[in-house]
Amino acid sequence: MDAKVFDYKKGWQNIPDPEGVDRKNEYKDFGTKRVSPERYISHDFMNSEWENLWTKTWLMACSSSDIRNVGDYFNFRIGKESIVVIRSSAGKVSAFYNVCPHRGNKLLYEDFGFVKDIGCRFHGWKFNLDGTNQSVTDSETFRDEVLCYDLDLSSVKVEEECGFVWVTMHEDPMPVREYLGEVAEHLDLYDVGNMNVIRHVHSEWAANWKTGLEAFYETYHLSFIHPQTQGMMEDYFVQMDTWDNGMNRMIVPFIEPSKRQEGHNLINEATNIMLADVGIDPNTFEGSPAEAKKAIQQKKREFSESYNLGYEKYSDAQLTDSFVYGIFPNIQIGCHPEGVFVHKFMPHPTNPEIFTYDTSINYRTVDNPNYHVPGWFGLPEGTDTSGQVRPDIVRYGLGVKPDLGEVLEQDSELIPFVQEGVRSRGFRGPLWSEQEIRLRHFHHEMDKYINQ
Ligand code: FES
Ligand SMILES: [Fe+2]
Repeated sequence: MDAKVFDYKKGWQNIPDPEGVDRKNEYKDFGTKRVSPERYISHDFMNSEWENLWTKTWLMACSSSDIRNVGDYFNFRIGKESIVVIRSSAGKVSAFYNVCPHRGNKLLYEDFGFVKDIGCRFHGWKFNLDGTNQSVTDSETFRDEVLCYDLDLSSVKVEEECGFVWVTMHEDPMPVREYLGEVAEHLDLYDVGNMNVIRHVHSEWAANWKTGLEAFYETYHLSFIHPQTQGMMEDYFVQMDTWDNGMNRMIVPFIEPSKRQEGHNLINEATNIMLADVGIDPNTFEGSPAEAKKAIQQKKREFSESYNLGYEKYSDAQLTDSFVYGIFPNIQIGCHPEGVFVHKFMPHPTNPEIFTYDTSINYRTVDNPNYHVPGWFGLPEGTDTSGQVRPDIVRYGLGVKPDLGEVLEQDSELIPFVQEGVRSRGFRGPLWSEQEIRLRHFHHEMDKYINQ
C-alpha cells in the first residue's frame, strides 16, 4: 500500500472503469476548516438544529411496506414531535402531527398499527384517515364561534419515494425526488417498496447524534475498532462520492481483504465463509480473493436466473460490495440486492449528548425454499424472514449493550468515549482526512441551514 499515490481530488476508484451506477462523481472541494466542538454539545446549537434543520428538511419516517394497507399507520418520533403517517386510501399517504385539536391529547401511542378511523381517548372526537374531522362529541354544547375554527388534524407534508415514506415540517419544500437527486435513481434499483422490514432496533447511546452518524460515515476507524472486518472488506481504497443537498456515498468493497493486511492476496477464513454462503465449496475452490469475488458474483447471477431475481440491472460491484448512501441529515442506507440496511441517527428531544441509533433491515423475501438470507446479514436465530409480520421495535436503553452483533457493539462502546472527549476544553475541533470527506461534506451542508 503506497499512500504517496493518493490524489485527494481523484480519490479512490475501487471499481475498474466505473460507469453507470458505479461512476464516481466529480470531486468537489469542501475546504479544510474545522468546525466548533460546540456543535456536538451545546443546547443552543441543538435548539438551532431544531428550528433550522429538523423542521426544514425531508425526513425518512418509515418504509412504505410498514403501511401497506389502508388504515396502517406508523408513529414517527423526531425530537419533541410525533408525526403519524397513515395509508389513508389506496396509493395515498397522509401525515399529521399526533395531537388532538380539542385539548392536545396525543392520539396514537403505539409505534405502528392499524385503525379504521382515529379516535381521541380523552373526549372521543373522531377523525378520518386523512385527518379531517369526522365528529365532535356533544357538538351542540359548543358555540358556533368555537366550532368554526379548524377542527381537522394539523397536516404535515408527506411523499412516498424509493420505497420509503418521507415527511417534512417545511411549509414549502422541494419534491423529495429533487431533494435526493441522483441518489433516488440509485435507490430505485433496489425496489425497497417490495421489501419487508424483518428487524428493527432502537438503541440509546450517550453521544450527540452527529458523533454517532460520523462514525458510520467513514471506514478509517475499521482497522482499529473492528479489526475482525479486515479479512472481509477493504477499508482504505473506498470510493467516496458527494452530491448536492448533502447526499453522498461510499462503496465498500466486500470479499477483498484489507490491503493494510499482510497476505491480503490470499484466500482467508472470511473469503471461505462468503464462498460457502453462495454454495461454492471452499475446500475445492482454487484462486485468489479477486477470483473468489468474481465466482461469487457469477453465482449470484445464476441465482438470479433460477429464482427470477432480475439482477441484470445490477453492476458486478453492486452484487457483492456495500453501496452505502448518506441522505442528509440523518440517514445512512447500506444497499445490497438481498436487502437494505437503514441506519437513522435520531436526536434526543432535550439532551444534545444522547441520541437513538435506529436501525432496520428491509429484506427482499424470495418465495423459494432453496433461497436463504446471506449469512453476513447476522440475523439472530429464529428471525422471521417471511415478510408476513412486521416485527416490533426492540429497544435498548442508555448504557445497555444492544444485541446487534460484534461490530455495532464495538461502536456502541466507543462512541460515548468520543463524546466525552469532544466535551473537553482541550478539544479544538475535528481534523478530517480525505477518507472522512463525507463528514466534511455533511457539515458543509449543515452550514447552509445553521451558520454558527
Ligand atoms: S383532547 Fe381529544 S377529544 Fe378532547
Ligand atoms: Fe464502526
